[in-house]
Amino acid sequence: MTKATNITWHETTITKEERRAQNGHGSCALWFTGLSGSGKSTIANAVSKELYRLGINEYVLDGDNVRHGLNKDLGFSEKDRKENIRRIGEVAKLFVDSGKIITTAFISPFISDREQVRTIFEEGEFVEVFVDCPLEICEHRDPKQLYAKARLGEIKNFTGIDSPYEPPSRPEIVIHTDKQTVEGAVDLIINYLREQNII
Ligand code: ADX
Repeated sequence: MTKATNITWHETTITKEERRAQNGHGSCALWFTGLSGSGKSTIANAVSKELYRLGINEYVLDGDNVRHGLNKDLGFSEKDRKENIRRIGEVAKLFVDSGKIITTAFISPFISDREQVRTIFEEGEFVEVFVDCPLEICEHRDPKQLYAKARLGEIKNFTGIDSPYEPPSRPEIVIHTDKQTVEGAVDLIINYLREQNII
């Protein structure tokens, strides 16, 4: 619900279509979802690098970074995660309106929150990328030693341990980081963008 009253929506003078035409490519949100340690940030940044190399206007929003700024008032309760994802969704939409390809790398554990974000986009603009990796492998990698802390009870509500992760049922793209190389994952995503005539 919108709290403010007496506000009107202003259409921008330059349309999304005009911005896309100037850029020479389409825009969309590549919405990564997956467990902590599944490889979201690694692949998101590798995709970003390749898009940049191809001369495409792109940007990455990464979980840990956004939580240092825009969302530093939020923790990891269900309510805060929901708000985290809602805000990221709105920011991602602004990037898509500006003609860019925006890559987001957040656990975004709940189906309902991701589906809610999908509804604010036009058809084809929300591309869900499921970074599928078994919990045991994420836990074994444990790059930030957070699973170890969660097992010891030093971190509460840790996704995969004592907070659920709901995998997407029909994601546009699935990446298996336990079987695929980073380059292979990047190729898959770039090919998808080409097939959809986004780039
Ligand atoms: S989300 O669930 O709200 O989408 P987000 O992607 O922003 O999570 O943040 C996840 C990152 O925060 C993890 O990669 C990890 O580094 C850190 N983190 C700290 N506490 C938790 C926790 N309780 N559950 C999951 N991740 C946590």
